[in-house]
Amino acid sequence: MDKLLIQGGVPLAGEIRVSGAKNAALPLMCAALLTEDELTLSNVPHLRDVSTMVRLLSQMGVEVSLDDRLGLSLRAARLSNPTAPYELVKTMRASILVLGPLVARCGEARVSLPGGCAIGTRPVDLHIKGLEALGAEISVEQGYISAKAKRLKGARLVMDLVTVTGTENLMMAACLAEGTTVIENAAREPEVADLAQCLTAMGARIRGAGSDVVTVDGVARLRGASHRIMADRIETGTFLAAAAATGGSVTLHGANPGTLEAVLEKLRESGAEVRAGDGTIALAMRDRPRGVNVRTAPYPAFPTDMQAQLMALDAIADGTGVITETIFENRFMHALEMQRLGADIEISGNTAVVHGVRQLQGANVMATDLRASASLVIAGLVAEGETRIDRIYHLDRGYECIEEKLAQLGARIRRVT
Ligand code: UD1
Repeated sequence: MDKLLIQGGVPLAGEIRVSGAKNAALPLMCAALLTEDELTLSNVPHLRDVSTMVRLLSQMGVEVSLDDRLGLSLRAARLSNPTAPYELVKTMRASILVLGPLVARCGEARVSLPGGCAIGTRPVDLHIKGLEALGAEISVEQGYISAKAKRLKGARLVMDLVTVTGTENLMMAACLAEGTTVIENAAREPEVADLAQCLTAMGARIRGAGSDVVTVDGVARLRGASHRIMADRIETGTFLAAAAATGGSVTLHGANPGTLEAVLEKLRESGAEVRAGDGTIALAMRDRPRGVNVRTAPYPAFPTDMQAQLMALDAIADGTGVITETIFENRFMHALEMQRLGADIEISGNTAVVHGVRQLQGANVMATDLRASASLVIAGLVAEGETRIDRIYHLDRGYECIEEKLAQLGARIRRVT
């Protein structure tokens, strides 16, 4: 299994380009299930999760091809098998995003229950409840969710809590329902708005995506479209946190600063100079960072997917930072690994108190999930000596060419098998 070796201590410097967003790409690919025409996506990040989604859609009968500029064309002319099998769903929870589109288009779907995962229980009850309210008959048997509906019917859905993929699933399903659906307490994440933009280009009638009330007037059919995937705000934030932690100076191109204001604010609070322009973000950190307090919450608040990376910054900061995780109940596994590098972190329930230390020391650590692995990369970049990160496949799920991009910024990093 691949490992990353990092020789820490080099301040990152230079310029790189941000990739398309994983969390936008996955729902957008599922939107192809809603039409028999071709959906073409550009700015597609080349990631393990995107390949998993290609496999999942292909085995249902979707024709998938890569064009010469690495755009992805998806054509679901006929769907032979509206099933998402356990083998694929267990490796990627976002597979649940096929459920809404399949039941809306085919009148039936079978999707393996995602089950537990490293960062908590993460149920999908709200996806199921919402589809039932739209008229689907749902049963759970032998670990599979089976959904059936002749034609879904619009309804008012009040979400018990904010769920990103839940909102996306129900918004996609509602596009082909009869009548109007109103999703209240919808997720406001920019990826929801990006999906709505693509669905609108496909002929859907959606208002309010990106706010907490999304209204969808169902239509009888959707058509093909072309869509450029938004910039990855989490990848952007990860590189900025890495630059800040190493005392570096970087410029990121192809970014969308408007989608990560809460993150930029925390980086500024830690002492970084951040300049955001049109599609560009420049960051320079001249002194040792200051400890900052972070509380994760749904967008536009600070994203849970950036919590681990900020913890790495706090780990070497001057002072103490208190990190509160309100979205997932078991998302501090990286803290234990960071302690192996010499970080001083106390965990109590969903709160981590991070007492900054002057220097981390390289050691062997293990990646436990996608964003945890990114935080260990940041910690490795600042640690003295060599850090070896095992189970790097977690990182490949969500970061395109991360070693190449970090190497371009001067990091001493390499992959070994
Ligand atoms: C999405 C992102 C993930 C991010 C997360 C929170 C994608 C592909 N993934 O995941 O990177 O960390 O948003 O910003 O976009 N919940 C329920 N019942 C449900 C659904 C969710 O109780 O039916 C709970 C979850 O356990 C969690 C909270 O709601 O505590 C938010 O989860 P949710 O927004 O659904 O996360 P995902 O959409 O899976």
